[in-house]
Amino acid sequence: MTQVTIFVCTACRLGGDVDNRPGQILLERLHARLPPHERESVAIEPVECLGVCKRPCTVALAAEDKWTYVIGDLDAVGDVDELLASARGFAASENGIVPWKDRPNAFRKGVVSRVPPLAAAKARP
Ligand code: FES
Repeated sequence: MTQVTIFVCTACRLGGDVDNRPGQILLERLHARLPPHERESVAIEPVECLGVCKRPCTVALAAEDKWTYVIGDLDAVGDVDELLASARGFAASENGIVPWKDRPNAFRKGVVSRVPPLAAAKARP
């Protein structure tokens, strides 16, 4: 059962170069580094634009009934393991909010926004 989905923007361009799309590299490296035993619990999905085009690489961590985080400024090569660790921490959290002290550096420095779960709005009277 999927516990977290990492949406990876594959459309961002580095320096406006149409041929330099680091999100595709990040996507491939995430798939390569994700251990086989986690392939049912961590989904890695390409998306075209998360609205943070000036901060590539950009991803979103999402799961049902949890806050969603949009994270940018990720290095397609150097931040792969920290991103996977971030996804694990996110999946293990109760509501998606990962304490600051428990966030890998790439997660700490790259947060663009967080969005509440839809259930939070439905729960209001
Ligand atoms: S093109 Fe990647 S966030 Fe817009």
